[in-house]
Amino acid sequence: MIDGAMPDPGIQVRPATRDDFESIDRIAGANGEPTTAPRWPGYLYLDHLLAEATLLVAERDGAIIGYAGAAVVGGPRPAAHVTDLFVDPEAYGQGAGGRLLRGLFEAVDVADWTTSSSADPRALTLYARSGMQPVWPILYLEAPLTLPVPDTAAEWWPGRAKSGEVGPGDTSALELTWSGRDFAAHYRHWASRPGGVAFRVEVDGRAVAVGAVRDGRMGPGRVLDHLAIAPDADPRLALVTALRSTPVRTPSPQPDPAARLRFTLGGPHPAVALLLALGCRITDHDTFCTTAPELVDPARVVPDPSFG
Ligand SMILES: CC(C)(COP(=O)(O)OP(=O)(O)OC[C@H]1O[C@@H](n2cnc3c(N)ncnc32)[C@H](O)[C@@H]1OP(=O)(O)O)[C@@H](O)C(=O)NCCC(=O)NCCS
Repeated sequence: MIDGAMPDPGIQVRPATRDDFESIDRIAGANGEPTTAPRWPGYLYLDHLLAEATLLVAERDGAIIGYAGAAVVGGPRPAAHVTDLFVDPEAYGQGAGGRLLRGLFEAVDVADWTTSSSADPRALTLYARSGMQPVWPILYLEAPLTLPVPDTAAEWWPGRAKSGEVGPGDTSALELTWSGRDFAAHYRHWASRPGGVAFRVEVDGRAVAVGAVRDGRMGPGRVLDHLAIAPDADPRLALVTALRSTPVRTPSPQPDPAARLRFTLGGPHPAVALLLALGCRITDHDTFCTTAPELVDPARVVPDPSFG
């Protein structure tokens, strides 16, 4: 699928096992993206990938020099999301990343692919050459835990917003009817993370959003892992209502002035300007890449960079 990549016969790609986790985490950490964290038990993230996704490693001379993962989002039109693609910095640019990506394409039998690409030109090149077009920026946003009510509230703020915890199966079932995308396995994982809950937001008795939120992994606060917005809801109203909902704002056990709410948003989401005016800060950005730009509507999702 990748034009021009010359296979290096010294690099072998194979499925990962739990024995590889230490090497995988070392490579992830060397790239500034450790898979483990003081606030997380064991290999929570890698265990999920091993159970529910495809996880590959690249080896050379018996040493692991890279790893990659892909998780399928089900539904009538299943698509695989590249969760991870990382190479040991000492082996950058020697073909391991291309081999790993090709390994994922061979291992996962779906037509459509998505990912959140870093700004690394090697990553964007590998994705774009394999048909995953860079389509919009993914902004990493950070806000005070209690987002202020917008000035425009009088015009459009809902009278009867209600939110609460629901089962992960309820959120995934509703999202499947809204977008045709089935995140059931991922909702189970998101809700199992420390402080994690699946939740639903209603305005005037109608569900406008479902999502999953949890405690911060590295520092105090909350992380909105994923949110889906109903097709008939105002995306600004639904998003801001969800961000101000009780499951999202519930602080980590100890109240902490440094606590923040972290989430991502596609650049084209209509609430971006409003959220920045309300005090949200951009801390980083990736690029959403896909073989099928019509598959994900950036106005209707808070995407998890790892799972979509
Ligand atoms: C991104 C990454 C996984 C790629 O793996 P890699 O082994 O370094 O990449 P490869 O050598 O297989 O392929 C890179 C390709 O990009 C090409 N390339 C490099 N710089 C380029 C540029 N500026 N413009 C266009 N092409 C470029 C290389 O020529 C190579 O293509 P070729 O094999 O046809 O010569 C690796 O560099 C990495 O871990 N980067 C840091 C972490 C990261 O950002 N990961 C991506 C997360 S989404």
